Amino acid sequence: MTSAGGGHQSLWYDTESDTVRIIDQTRLPHELAIASLNSLQDVCVAIESMQVRGAPLIGVTAAYGIYLALREDSSVLESAIQSLAATRPTAINLHWALQRCHNGLASVAPEELAGRALELAQILEKEDIAVCEAIGEQGAAVLQEIWQRKSATQSQLNILTHCNAGALATVDWGTALAVVYKAAAAGIPLHVWVDETRPRNQGASLTCWELGQRGIPHTLVVDNAGGHLMQQGKVDLCLVGSDRTTRRGDVCNKVGTYLKALAANDNGIPFYVALPISTIDFAIEDGHEEIPIEERDAEEVLTLMGKDESGVPQRVAIAPENTAVSNIGFDVTPARLVTALITERSVVPATAEAIAGLLD
Ligand code: MRU
Repeated sequence: MTSAGGGHQSLWYDTESDTVRIIDQTRLPHELAIASLNSLQDVCVAIESMQVRGAPLIGVTAAYGIYLALREDSSVLESAIQSLAATRPTAINLHWALQRCHNGLASVAPEELAGRALELAQILEKEDIAVCEAIGEQGAAVLQEIWQRKSATQSQLNILTHCNAGALATVDWGTALAVVYKAAAAGIPLHVWVDETRPRNQGASLTCWELGQRGIPHTLVVDNAGGHLMQQGKVDLCLVGSDRTTRRGDVCNKVGTYLKALAANDNGIPFYVALPISTIDFAIEDGHEEIPIEERDAEEVLTLMGKDESGVPQRVAIAPENTAVSNIGFDVTPARLVTALITERSVVPATAEAIAGLLD
């Protein structure tokens, strides 16, 4: 399935083979490998192992997981929802998509369940594309305003991003990077500073790959460089995605986001978060107290994956064996450090009142 960027969507349904196809993101940037998901088990493994990742994409993939489960056995709706809900804890889009599946399927007759589940997954896939494109348009208007102020004194607009909130984190377009793509298409000369995003390096391996595919000028930096770049006047704005945002505007995103927001605040640099409304968890207020933060395997910190000189993928150790590790996947940026939330409906301040208004 062709994406807006001319490559593949991150996920699509192949009618002929009745399978779900994904870009296997564990193989990027060295290889563009397409994997097939044929069962609920395949989908759970793909989400857990991060062959698919990024909050919106996890949600749509889970909806297809429900279809694949019901295709085998129409009695497993609730247990399939439970298995998928347990795959990753932080991104709320997973639970949002599963709730949509529950609401849409709970009262459907058994013989129609699989067909309806497939239709629903396809609707979520299409919605995700449209929502992300709209986020891009909303955000491009913000960048246009900033560029109008800056263009007299500089030749490009410098954006710093963390992790991958791009087309690969959604079905297509992305959230933060949708803004970049729409702004670039509108003629704003852009340059993106890409945080490498240890431990899994989604910035280095995924964001650099997709910006390169779309011809967007970018520079990879180590995670600790952002503060210095901001002090040097080399960052005009920060632009990130979110895995869960609370009803008062606390933003949970890939670990390290908070430090960038602190540095941006200290340097008077705007800090924008681009997200679909489905990423807002209206049930919770305090991001620090209430969002479950994923802790992942120590191996991700103790080792690095790369390609050796002969082009063979290798995992190498970078710390003494048996070193104690904490591998916290996400952190919470308090609402006071967020300049605005860029959603598909509008750009709003990170306040309870403005966020509640998104539901009107
Ligand atoms: O652990 P990941 O790679 O799933 O984390 C992804 C992020 O933190 C993204 O910034 C977030 O999901 C927003 S994606 C549009």
